[in-house]
Amino acid sequence: MSRKIGMWLYSNGGGDKIQEKIVKKLKEREIETITDINLRHAIAQNGHILHDKLKVDGLDLFFSYNAGEQTQYQVFLYQALNRVMPMINSYDSFALTEDKFQTSFLLRQHGIATPSFKLCHRDDTQHLQTIMKKWSRMVYKPTDGWGGVGLTKIENQATLDMLLPFLNQMDLRFFYVEKFVKYDNTDFRVDIVDGEFVGCYGRKASKTDWRTNITAGGSVFLREPDDKVIEIAKKAAKICGTDIAGVDIIYDMEKEEYVVLEVNGIPAFATPEQEKMGLNFNKKKIDLIVNMIDRKTKK
Ligand SMILES: Nc1ncnc2c1ncn2[C@@H]1O[C@H](COP(=O)(O)OP(=O)(O)O)[C@@H](O)[C@H]1O
Ligand SMILES: [Mg+2]
Repeated sequence: MSRKIGMWLYSNGGGDKIQEKIVKKLKEREIETITDINLRHAIAQNGHILHDKLKVDGLDLFFSYNAGEQTQYQVFLYQALNRVMPMINSYDSFALTEDKFQTSFLLRQHGIATPSFKLCHRDDTQHLQTIMKKWSRMVYKPTDGWGGVGLTKIENQATLDMLLPFLNQMDLRFFYVEKFVKYDNTDFRVDIVDGEFVGCYGRKASKTDWRTNITAGGSVFLREPDDKVIEIAKKAAKICGTDIAGVDIIYDMEKEEYVVLEVNGIPAFATPEQEKMGLNFNKKKIDLIVNMIDRKTKK
């Protein structure tokens, strides 16, 4: 086989089975896959990046699909590798979507609706107070978080006053806050691969939380997106340059429009349990990924 790619895909939640399928389909197209290339164990040595005896930089493409806490070291090598070979997602789009502020900023520039947001210097708490008066409710968000972790709903001035000393202690460079969107506590997660719509599901927050994340007690349900939702997700994925994207969308009941919360660069495949529920987009997603790898490695 003349084409060889590297892959690092999560193995939990059915990821191992997905990997097998991708490897098999690539093989049918005469593309060999070296799996489990965790850059954590790679070394950069002069002009090469070595994993065991493998020259990672000699591969035709690297498919990185493991959200599980990529360390700064891994991200550093990701960046270096992408200077010399194609990667899915590209380093630039990966780095962009890892940051909620950078993503929202770019989406807004391109006319995609997001919750109103503000970023201010950590010393500019005066500004936060002003925003609070205007918005009445806001969400403090770590720009690089996931799973709803660290998101804090600030319901009134008193909560903000109470929170500020804690935030100041955290040695942050800035505060990123969004207006709290009035919504029905459900969202759309829309998967896009290579510009195509793959699938959609909904998540509903638990009775005791305002966040839809599964890790915050939310639950998944079958949900048909309307054309508008698909169109927004496709546009967001394109603007972010993500070959693979999971776009989080909610409906703003006051503005009466859909808003994009974030773009996830490593959206999970449906788990075996979710497949049983009827989330049946894995095959389409795998096929689109295989096609894309084939195309990007054509010599
Ligand atoms: N501005 C907002 N207004 C209301 N709810 C929000 C807002 N931002 C986020 N949420 C809720 O919090 C959840 C997590 O936010 P999100 O931006 O997707 O970050 P994460 O990376 O942690 O998933 C969302 O799924 C949604 O339920
Ligand atoms: Mg999210």
